[in-house]
Amino acid sequence: MDTKILSTIEEDLKEAGRILRGGGLVAFPTETVYGLGADAMNTEAVAKVYKAKGRPSDNPMIIHIAEREHLYKLSSKVTPVMETLADKFWPGPLTMVVMRNPDIPDTTTGGLDTVGIRLPASETARKIIRYADCPIAAPSANLSGKPSPTRAVDVIEDLAGRVDAIVEGEDCEIGLESTVVMVEEDRVTVLRPGRISPNDIKEALEDTGARLEIDSALLKQSAGDEVQTPKAPGMKYRHYAPKAEMIIVSGAYKNVLEKISEIKKTREHAGQKVGILDLTGIDEEKAARRFFSCLRDMDSEGVDLILAVALEDRGGLDFAIMNRMFKSAGYKILEV
Ligand code: TXA
Ligand code: MG
Repeated sequence: MDTKILSTIEEDLKEAGRILRGGGLVAFPTETVYGLGADAMNTEAVAKVYKAKGRPSDNPMIIHIAEREHLYKLSSKVTPVMETLADKFWPGPLTMVVMRNPDIPDTTTGGLDTVGIRLPASETARKIIRYADCPIAAPSANLSGKPSPTRAVDVIEDLAGRVDAIVEGEDCEIGLESTVVMVEEDRVTVLRPGRISPNDIKEALEDTGARLEIDSALLKQSAGDEVQTPKAPGMKYRHYAPKAEMIIVSGAYKNVLEKISEIKKTREHAGQKVGILDLTGIDEEKAARRFFSCLRDMDSEGVDLILAVALEDRGGLDFAIMNRMFKSAGYKILEV
């Protein structure tokens, strides 16, 4: 398949919209990561997304909308708690998992009775959705299992030849996927951490009477703990993984560096190329923005082993970065 490379000029965004409307696949930038879009109401189009990504079909997709009102078309029951969260965080990196409207094809929702909905902050993304004039199902625009794409080049590497078009935009501002929350009458549960932290959500819920919970699978993510089955189907797969083997080293910084240099020496002696991922010195927004692209860059450089310094988890963006890091490393953690 020939993949059209489009820019962010208005004519090209219109073309992206036309392709989506006609049942084609278009990868486009959002503020979190690049997404691979299809008309969410078109079963065949959505089926092609699973195929292009090599993604298991029980993993539901997030539906992206450009106007808040479209929430009412997609959800069978819009509650005051949903309205509060939309007021506070939309447009932006928050996905709400809510009761679905039965019109939405099962292919899009993975057969669940709920659906994830997000109104992105990215102007480019919103324009494309408006031009398409339909809700857009969009998982991250990577081959299944690989690190999420935060730059147009990453999308081209994974999907050129497999999709109808790729919109080449800026690097993604946030660099980690949206925070996913399950919204129920009296309870909001964080299923995937992101830029919007549990604390941000807790504050927003203050006057609603709803309580905040965190999927216990996320809290049990560190060394030695049994890995539980997460409630967001996508969180259970080995994910975000570089080709290289990856080990997280956790502990006091000085000890971590010592351990890393020791392992590096041994492995290099055995002829391996070793890369070090240390995001501790920079501010956490920058760390989040760089995380996935660093993994991809080390793969392109032919690194065999990535040694990653664990970040201190204070419950904010660091919690989200560590969640991705644990998954990338397949939970290989060394405590020192
Ligand atoms: O930032 C993002 O959310 C990006 C951009 C493109 O918007 N999209 C994204 O989609 O990360 P994806 O498909 O890679 O991840 C969606 C996550 C998966 O973990 C999936 O299991 C979960 O959301 N999810 C979607 N619908 C769900 C539902 N109804 N119930 C539980 N989890 C759901
Ligand atoms: Mg993904």
